[in-house]
Amino acid sequence: MNIWRSFLLVAVLYLLGGLLVGMYMGGSHDLELRPLHTHLNLLGFVMMTLFALVYRQFPQMECGRMAPIHFWLYQVGVLGMLLALLGVAWRLAGEDMLAPLRGASEGLVVLGVMVFGLCVWRNAR
Ligand code: HEM
Repeated sequence: MNIWRSFLLVAVLYLLGGLLVGMYMGGSHDLELRPLHTHLNLLGFVMMTLFALVYRQFPQMECGRMAPIHFWLYQVGVLGMLLALLGVAWRLAGEDMLAPLRGASEGLVVLGVMVFGLCVWRNAR
């Protein structure tokens, strides 16, 4: 699995999603989706592009199997967070009902970043 390529490809998909949601908000004046738009762009595009650039520039940061673990924890976590944000915005379920999904997903994102941080710590000191 080529980590930087995978992060970059997914990042571009999230950017397209973020831009479309932004255009929808601008056109409809419906700003309920603002948190979704922001997180699609920032967690989806900006962060994943930064991860891709780090792995491209510094392949030693992959630390063997650690990079795929970072990738999958981050992917599942971000997707869960975005679904929870969408659910709240579209009132698909109460905020209370979606809180466990949001909390668990945030936890996965943080775990993924901790795996990344461990490799950075090992290699960049
Ligand atoms: C086609 C491109 C884009 C469009 C049409 C768009 C549209 C919008 C709109 C309509 C809002 C709500 C403004 C308001 O509160 O009155 C907004 C907020 C925001 N956008 Fe975008 N946006 C675009 C691209 C981006 C990108 C690329 C990023 C970040 C990388 C971004 C980050 C944000 C942030 C941080 C907010 C503020 C959210 C908040 O206040 O909760 N946007 N955008």
